[in-house]
Amino acid sequence: MKNNPLLILLLLTCSIVYSQKFENLAQTPPMGWNTWNKFACNINEEVIKSAADAMVSSGMKDAGYEYIVIDDCWHGERDAKGFIQANKEHFPSGMKALVDYVHSKGLKFGIYSDAGDKTCGGKPGSRGREYQDALTYAEWGVDYLKYDWCNTDGIKAEGAYTTMRNALYEAGRPVVLSICEWGDNKPWEWARDIGHLWRTTGDIYHCWDCEEDHGDWSSWGVLRILDMQDGLRKYAGPGHWNDPDMMEVGNGMSVSEDRAHFTMWCMLAAPLMAGNDLDKMSAETIEILTNKEMIAIDQDPLGVQAFKYSAEDGLETWFKPLENGDWAVTFLNRSDDVHDIEFNWKEHLVIDPDFDYKTDFENITYKVKNLWDDKKEKNTDKTLKNKLNPHDVLSLRLTNINK
Ligand code: GLA
Repeated sequence: MKNNPLLILLLLTCSIVYSQKFENLAQTPPMGWNTWNKFACNINEEVIKSAADAMVSSGMKDAGYEYIVIDDCWHGERDAKGFIQANKEHFPSGMKALVDYVHSKGLKFGIYSDAGDKTCGGKPGSRGREYQDALTYAEWGVDYLKYDWCNTDGIKAEGAYTTMRNALYEAGRPVVLSICEWGDNKPWEWARDIGHLWRTTGDIYHCWDCEEDHGDWSSWGVLRILDMQDGLRKYAGPGHWNDPDMMEVGNGMSVSEDRAHFTMWCMLAAPLMAGNDLDKMSAETIEILTNKEMIAIDQDPLGVQAFKYSAEDGLETWFKPLENGDWAVTFLNRSDDVHDIEFNWKEHLVIDPDFDYKTDFENITYKVKNLWDDKKEKNTDKTLKNKLNPHDVLSLRLTNINK
């Protein structure tokens, strides 16, 4: 009976038919830290442990950060049976011990693989080994998988990501699946039931508005990535997020650029994956990454991204609908000049272009809270007047006071 081919076929068919995405994960955008932006392939178990320690001691954990994710280059060889192992020199205690350490801090653990036969860094990929790798991750206690797209000539993205989704499901441990194919195959059109987040673009770079040319590919500054999100907000929501890539806060931009970058990621309901050295953060970097009121905009249960309401002379105004009829509003100064903002709320009727939200400031008055400065609260009866520095934001939470 055990080796009955018909029974095996039946079981296999059932598992393929019934495998699915783990529901109820990532109901708000995942928050955490990833090794890649700062450390690239220079990683080892001490780097990861220090990051986990710093996530707790800096207040990031209290602010909602949860996942410690090891990106590319943790891999060693496959063993004689084909099971993947961590690089023994850099991870001498083994991956299971590291996962246990991260869990002991009350955090979750994420790992990285690739749908091709090699990762982007040339390490063993999961192609043809999806079920075996998923079993290994489950055994180690992995909670999150970033699944990349290098060396995938001749395979189809939707199928490849579905295979890994099914493998994770069959392995039985709930895992957030982070799809990373750079938006090449429009994952927002097909990945809602496959992954919990999908990259929408190529890699980010720690600059305000540049293209960093790497020969046959480019990475992109914050404004470039922001502009590439155009048209995608209607595809995202609880459990399935657009991912404009990990953050570069604390990696060399100015404080106002970091603040604007973080604010816009919160407005986009983006996954908030820090990408800096958590062990060596300036007070400003910590203040930005742990701004709880700003994080509440990102994590708002409605899960609706902001839309661009107006743009003129390098000054943009963005609106994000929030739970209970609140709104987040951000003025973004992209330009190199100071901008005088004068916004008479009463003249504005704001209509969401993709979802059923609107507000009419002529008839509804909101309390106005500045999210980056503790100045006294105002309301929308009065015209907002402000000077906004170059490469900076003014970000507000509006609360309906007539309710
Ligand atoms: C790709 C991904 C990056 C990172 C590297 C690792 O470029 O887009 O985020 O994971 O691979 O090699």
